Amino acid sequence: MMSRLAGKVIVITGGGSGIGLAAAHLFAQEGARLVLFGRNAAKLEAAAARIAGEVHTINGDMATLSHLEHLVSESVQRFGGVDVLFLNAGTAPFASIEDCDEAGFDECFGINVRGRFFAIQKFLPHLRTPASIILTATGLMHKPLPESSVWAAANAAVRSLAQSLSVDLAARGVRLNVLSPGPTDTPIYDAYGMPAEEVERLKSGLADKTLLKRLAHADEMAKVALFLASDESSYIVGAEIIADGGYGLT
Ligand SMILES: NC(=O)c1ccc[n+]([C@@H]2O[C@H](COP(=O)([O-])OP(=O)(O)OC[C@H]3O[C@@H](n4cnc5c(N)ncnc54)[C@H](OP(=O)(O)O)[C@@H]3O)[C@@H](O)[C@H]2O)c1
Repeated sequence: MMSRLAGKVIVITGGGSGIGLAAAHLFAQEGARLVLFGRNAAKLEAAAARIAGEVHTINGDMATLSHLEHLVSESVQRFGGVDVLFLNAGTAPFASIEDCDEAGFDECFGINVRGRFFAIQKFLPHLRTPASIILTATGLMHKPLPESSVWAAANAAVRSLAQSLSVDLAARGVRLNVLSPGPTDTPIYDAYGMPAEEVERLKSGLADKTLLKRLAHADEMAKVALFLASDESSYIVGAEIIADGGYGLT
């Protein structure tokens, strides 16, 4: 079978771990040349060293516009243009309404919404059409967990952006779609600083809320991203694929 992403240049934000890293492996196997972006340079380099294929790493913060400009200029300098943007980097902060302060609210929207919007704006002149932009949101926004209001709202904004920007950009050969994962076994759960047993309890509680009674593997999300990145999804525009193991149905 022909490689499904042969010759495509793909930028993956949050490409150093979890879903982004699984996608990087899969995309490289399918012939893509990659740019991986994240805040932690060592993590990105370690990831790149394990991927078979052409991989360039750039470190920076999604919430800082000058870092996004650097990401764009480095990617273009290296590869000339970009075919696919996988805007996947994100955080999932949990806080009660009382505990969420202005800085936490702004950080969540800064990374998940503002950063993605301006990444699209800044990459736009350099996209080779037909281009595909994939935005990672979350299936959990459709059935919110307690104390997830700001994160869920940010993800709803991401979904809205995919729809509204599709209206603006489809005629220019740019498809935008959303991948909304259900609970997926990635390092994101370690970011809460909880003791290991508590993390395990959280994960098994989430697994129990799905119909499949397990977390997703990052690879399972990567396969959905591959479909959205490739021409196999050529007639899918402004859509959301909810890959949640039936979380929304329990
Ligand atoms: N795992 C789940 O259960 C789940 C469920 C629904 C949705 N999601 C979404 O899936 C996406 C991928 O998450 P994951 O589960 O694969 O977790 P992950 O392994 O923690 O991946 C998130 C990545 O985003 C990067 N990142 C975070 N903040 C960033 C920033 N400000 N600037 C640049 N990079 C940043 C992180 O790298 P650095 O720390 O090095 O920057 C990390 O590589 C996220 O958007 C998440 O919200 C995950």
